[in-house]
Amino acid sequence: MSEWNYRTIIEPFKIKMVEPIPFTTAAERQAWLKKAGYNLFNIPAEKVTIDLLTDSGTSAMSALQWSALMRGDESYAGAKSFFVLEGMVKRIMGYSHVIPVHQGRAAERILFSVVGGKGKIVPGNTHFDTTRANITASGAQAVDLPCPEAAASQDDYPFKGNISLEALERLLKAKSQNIPLCLMTLTNNALGGQPASLENLRQTKKLLKKYKVPLFIDAARFAENAYFIKIREKGMSGKTVEEIAREIFSLADGAMMSAKKDAFANIGGFLALNDPAWAQKARNLLILTEGFPTYGGLAGRDLEAIAQGLLEVLDEDYLKYRLRSTAYLGEGLQRLGIPIICPVGAHAVYIDAKEFLAHIAPKKFPGHSLAVALYLEAGIRSCELGSLMFGQDAKMELVRLAIPRRVYTQSHIDWVIEVFERIVNKKETLPGFRIVSAPKELRHFTARLAPVG
Ligand code: F0G
Repeated sequence: MSEWNYRTIIEPFKIKMVEPIPFTTAAERQAWLKKAGYNLFNIPAEKVTIDLLTDSGTSAMSALQWSALMRGDESYAGAKSFFVLEGMVKRIMGYSHVIPVHQGRAAERILFSVVGGKGKIVPGNTHFDTTRANITASGAQAVDLPCPEAAASQDDYPFKGNISLEALERLLKAKSQNIPLCLMTLTNNALGGQPASLENLRQTKKLLKKYKVPLFIDAARFAENAYFIKIREKGMSGKTVEEIAREIFSLADGAMMSAKKDAFANIGGFLALNDPAWAQKARNLLILTEGFPTYGGLAGRDLEAIAQGLLEVLDEDYLKYRLRSTAYLGEGLQRLGIPIICPVGAHAVYIDAKEFLAHIAPKKFPGHSLAVALYLEAGIRSCELGSLMFGQDAKMELVRLAIPRRVYTQSHIDWVIEVFERIVNKKETLPGFRIVSAPKELRHFTARLAPVG
């Protein structure tokens, strides 16, 4: 498709198997919201018409992934499927040790149990919420050092996922002996799904090398990031995404990956690294809670599906469509005057709810108000990333419309845009929210809320 030159970038797949999507009435949705304590995580999926809660674990697998499941070797130790996955991870990332886990946060828990602990500091471009929680749970401190451009949501800077090299150097100068590693999250999910540039990664590596601090990559959306590098970074257009990915990983000492994103798997992940001592400790922890090192909490068939997914995500026709289809949603919202984080990332469109619902103060959760309104209007489920999710650490009040991979077509997205048209017309009437009850950590998953005003 690469030489094709049409305005419309069609979905580069056809559909072999379908599942119906549910339709509900406004009265049903109102009743479900009340029952759910106005928390969309508490709504049963069969009451959701278009589910944009997350792009994680929600991908449609390909025919080749489904057939790969049948090749799954379920041997307890040394399963053939492990070596298939190990081979694929080594091909793309080049690390010596590949440790499967049941999903990304298990890799986080294991890695930070090995390298974290009291007094340690883990900087990054911006940690995702589970990463932050696992760093903190180990006793260490998670420090976000996003580049200053990331703060200007309407600015078109192409690599807002970069880390601030100045801030990193300041921290390294003062505390390098307490920093076990620096983590670059690709793409930067907590700040709008923005990519980091290869140049920023190179400079980060250079700086870290000076202070003898290892670099790790959160690779959940590495292929999307690599494709952004290909189309946005000077001198990169002639390289394949696989070459760019290999270059990214060659700069780092290891990576964690939630395979539920760019590997199109419904479950799974892995930790891959070079340091044999860290790998040994990680495997010991793995055996304690995940399983034997050649399956790590997964079935052999999952390992096969992940390996096949890692191969498929390098397909540049897919990545071109992926970026285009997400931008298409962003453009639709912009036509309606809805403020979004620019430029649009690959896995989601992020709405600036603080600006869109300026009548609702951040402490009354404007992002949550918009998410509730979308569900109430038409059964669309989205996710707040603001004061409800991050509490005091919130830098913005965002609503994320995450796009599951290969699941929805352009007409689904057109319909979502049409629903927004109605929301725009009544936005002044949307209420703020207050928390009725919530746990201390990761409160957004289980909090109960009520409308105010
Ligand atoms: N890192 C990043 C950048 C993520 O976005 C996620 C999950 C994880 C790690 C944890 O992986 O879910 O497999 O344990 N993000 C999901 C999301 C939940 O909706 O963005 P996991």
